[in-house]
Parts: sequence; C-alpha cells; structure tokens
Amino acid sequence: TYNIGASQPSCCLHLRKRRGSMYLEEETDKKSEVISCIFSLKEEVGALAKALRLFEDKGINLMHIESRPSRMNKDQYEFFISVDSTCSQALDEVIDGLRTQISGHVHELSRNKQKDTVCFLLLLSLFVLSGQTIPRVEYTEDERATWGIVFKELKTLYPTHACREHNRVFPLLEKYCGYRQDNIPQLEDVSRFLQSCTGFRLRPVAGLLSSRDFLAGLAFRVFHSTQYIRHVLRVQSQDICHELLGHVPLFADPSFAQFSQEIGLASLGAPDEYIEKLATVYWFTVEFGLCKQGSEIKAYGAGLLSSFGELKYCLTDKPKVLPFDPDKTSFQKYPITEYQPVYFVAESFEDAKEKVRKFAATIPRPFSVRYNPYTQSIEVLDNTQQLRNLADSINSELGKLCEAMRKLE
Ligand SMILES: [Fe+2]
Repeated sequence: TYNIGASQPSCCLHLRKRRGSMYLEEETDKKSEVISCIFSLKEEVGALAKALRLFEDKGINLMHIESRPSRMNKDQYEFFISVDSTCSQALDEVIDGLRTQISGHVHELSRNKQKDTVCFLLLLSLFVLSGQTIPRVEYTEDERATWGIVFKELKTLYPTHACREHNRVFPLLEKYCGYRQDNIPQLEDVSRFLQSCTGFRLRPVAGLLSSRDFLAGLAFRVFHSTQYIRHVLRVQSQDICHELLGHVPLFADPSFAQFSQEIGLASLGAPDEYIEKLATVYWFTVEFGLCKQGSEIKAYGAGLLSSFGELKYCLTDKPKVLPFDPDKTSFQKYPITEYQPVYFVAESFEDAKEKVRKFAATIPRPFSVRYNPYTQSIEVLDNTQQLRNLADSINSELGKLCEAMRKLE
C-alpha cells in the first residue's frame, strides 16, 4: 500500500543509496551540500589514475568515491564520486575533461543549480527485479472466502461498468493466472503475465511507501503491490483484491501502461509540491478514473473496479463528473474513506498521456529523462551523447516503421 498524497519525509540521506530506493537525494542542510556524479571509464590500466588526475589538477578533494561494474557496458566501470559544493566551478571543468579527454560518460547526480532549490532527486540505478521471484503465499480459508465474495460480486458488474480494456484482459487472467472465485492468484504468476503483455512488473510491499517512491516505481514499469487480504470489506480496501481485480487488468493494456509510466517519469526529480500534484493526478486516474468509450462513460480506476458499491455509484448521476485536465485535476481535494464526490473523465488513455506529458513539462527540473526499455533503466538526457543515442534509437525505429508500411502497401 502507499500513503498517496503525503509528501516525502524530509529525512534526506546523502552519499548513500537509500534502502529499497533507487535514487539519491540531495542533502537539504545547506552547510553540507555536496555534488555527486557518476562517470564511466573503459576498463584499462591507468584509466582511473588519469581521471583522478583531472580532479587533482583542479584542486578538488573527493569526499567519497566508489566503483562498480557498469550495467550498460560490460567493459566499463562506473565511479560514483562526491565533492564539496564549493568546488562547483572546478567540477564543471573536470566533467568537461572527463567527457573530452577521457571520453567517459558523466551523469551529474545532484547539484544546487538555484540557491533555494528544493532538493531534487536523480536516479542512481535501475530496479533490479530480474531473477527475483515473488514468494508464494498460502492464503487461509477465510481469506479465500473473502476473495471469493469480492470476485463473484464484481464480475457481475464488469461487463456493464468496466472499460473495454479491463473486459478484454480479464478472461486472459482467468485463463493464465488462476483468477477464480475459489483461488487467489499468486503475484509471481500475475507479474510474469504482465511482463509478457506490457513489461509491467509487480513488486510486493509490506508497509507504507512514500508517494515519491511509489510513483518512481511506475517510471520503471514497476507496480508496488500489497500481498495481504483484508478480512473486513471496506469502502476502499487496499489489499490484494484491489490490486488483482482493480489494477492488474489495466497494467496489461499497452496504452494504459504507457500512461501510468508517464506519471512515474514526471515524478523523477520533481519538487515535493509537484509530487503531491502527481499523486493527486494518479488518484483521479489510475485509482478513480473514468473514460469515454464511444458514447458511454466507463470506469478504469482500480479503486472503482475493486469496489462493488462505488463501481455502481460512479456511473450514476450522483457524483460530479469533470473532464480530465491535470492542471485542474491536480488541485482537486478528495476524501479517502468514502465514495468520491468528483470524478474526472479521460477522452482516452492516449489523450490522458499527452496531457500528463504536457503537465510534466511544467515541472521545474533541470533535466529530462527517458526510460530505456533495453536496459530497464532511466536515462538522464543531459549530454550530447545521450541525445545522440536517443536520436539513433528513434531513427532505427522509424526505419522499421517505414519498411513495415511499405510492405503493407
Ligand atoms: Fe490502488
């Protein structure tokens, strides 16, 4: 589960990778500001010494250095270094030197570019999930009974109330993932299924996750899911019924998957107040979204698709229904223990994605990011090499598209 809407706790760590997290956070205590960066070097004798000489020549004292084999290039090593922020100017020259003289790749991880910059975050490394299986859970008879009631009730409503994407995927989950009234599907099976559909993966979480961590997961196509079941049927229960019946079917849809990832990407490095706005956007889309389908309105939010009462209620004329617009939606207040008085309707997932993208462009952050599906990592587009790689990749995709179109003609 996650405490959506709550802002990131201010206990920032610096120079250390947060446990269970994948980015570094800049120290907010101005007295001890540090600048961190990662650079990579070919594995050859003297390469590191050459790089370190650049620091020495500029009189920069390294506060921290660590190395690891590069995940991107097998013949390279990555070095993570931190220096005191008073060395800012000299570091610029060193980074220049690393890029030009040693042809190393450099990622700046944190730096106060404006004096009163709120701490911004940058990604350190990818979420490593490959090879990790989600432990199977043996549910009790009571738990299976609770699941059974929820499953049976909701299934009767889906044909008329759920969006077509949900209805298209649901039979596949019954066929391949053990979705049955008398069986609670296992997250591992479901995660594998999702990976084969859209690359989305489930990652079990036991406790609360901050909005920032939760949203960051989406940037990697990772959805943090609870694995337990609640015995008391509540208005909006955050349990495995909610995850499996509400969220999972939609994450198997390519358009929705992209839309969700877009919210995640927008959150990387965003200031706290924007995290809250994005969490609100997430609330009114992924959790409680409605969408147009032909002349009708259907539900696609997981909070709706996992609540028999609210799924019926949301399509009546009782709640207020507004067009989805992140600029306005992100300011909407909402209750968390009762049915929503306001819903937002998306024209389509594609349209919603474009709107989130435009909204993301208004978030003040000094870099752009992109998800690299091959390495399953986030790339910070802050140097010409990265931009060239992206251009090459788009170029090659476009080539394939043109060729396929020619063949169809
Ligand atoms: Fe949820």
